[in-house]
Amino acid sequence: MYKLGLIGYPIQHSLSPWIHERLLQKAELQGEYRLFEITPEDDFKEKVLELKEKQLDGFNVTVPYKEKIIPYLNDMDDIAKEMQAVNTVVNEKGRWVGYNTDGIGYVRSLENAYPDLFEHLNRKIMILGAGGAARGIYYALTKFGFAQIDIANRTQEKAEDIAKLGKDNTKTKIFTIEEASRHLDEYDLIIQTTSIGMKSVDLKPIVQLNRLNPETIMSDIVYQPLKTQILQDAERLGARILLGHTMLLYQAQYAFEIWTGMCPDVQEMEYELLAVLEGR
Ligand code: ATR
Repeated sequence: MYKLGLIGYPIQHSLSPWIHERLLQKAELQGEYRLFEITPEDDFKEKVLELKEKQLDGFNVTVPYKEKIIPYLNDMDDIAKEMQAVNTVVNEKGRWVGYNTDGIGYVRSLENAYPDLFEHLNRKIMILGAGGAARGIYYALTKFGFAQIDIANRTQEKAEDIAKLGKDNTKTKIFTIEEASRHLDEYDLIIQTTSIGMKSVDLKPIVQLNRLNPETIMSDIVYQPLKTQILQDAERLGARILLGHTMLLYQAQYAFEIWTGMCPDVQEMEYELLAVLEGR
């Protein structure tokens, strides 16, 4: 009987229970995935100690606790150490070990949708944004060995900071958002990681797409709306697209694998999750 869960705030509308209960079913494992909301008024330390007593097999950590959880861990994997952010904790005989599944989750979703992209490593990739998600994605892609991964962000220092994670075989240039718009046609893959495009933020795409090459894959990690304006526009211009909810599924798949050792296929869940999101 697996005891799993999520800490964060607010989490009442989280899709994680839905996803992990399906993963348990697919893996034919008994278990439950519960929400443990910790509000800003709560004493975080007290809540975490209460959680420890529940002896969960594993749990996810979301905003705003991905960094705050770190002092309570016994160990972290190398990726989580580099990110200094943890979204998955596994209980290894009472020791809490932290992971960050964002980057690998994204790469898995990309590989599943566009395996041809991975046939050659001399690809040119542009990441729009330099927040936590961009950091994880950049790191996972550099580890894969792609030749050029450029970053465009409103705040240049944050992009420069991410570029320090780069490996010798990956070149990285830093751009402003305006520069990125002018160079869009040079890329095989463009990954939109900012909050622009979200229902609650700003629906207008972050970059101008008039220079988009139809050979380019346009990916957005925003999934509400399901097909953001930048993806709609890119599709209209003939480009291939990757919807944001797929990253959600594959990072959950990787977390589930860390907890249970099993890696259920999530491809057919993509459509089910779309239907769930459409109903919101
Ligand atoms: P996440 O963890 O989801 O990546 P984050 O760390 O808050 O979220 O990062 C948000 C990203 O969206 C950042 O790249 C941010 O740009 P800055 O680094 O300049 O803050 C970007 N972003 C948010 N609102 C933006 C806006 N109005 N214009 C341009 N970029 C914006």
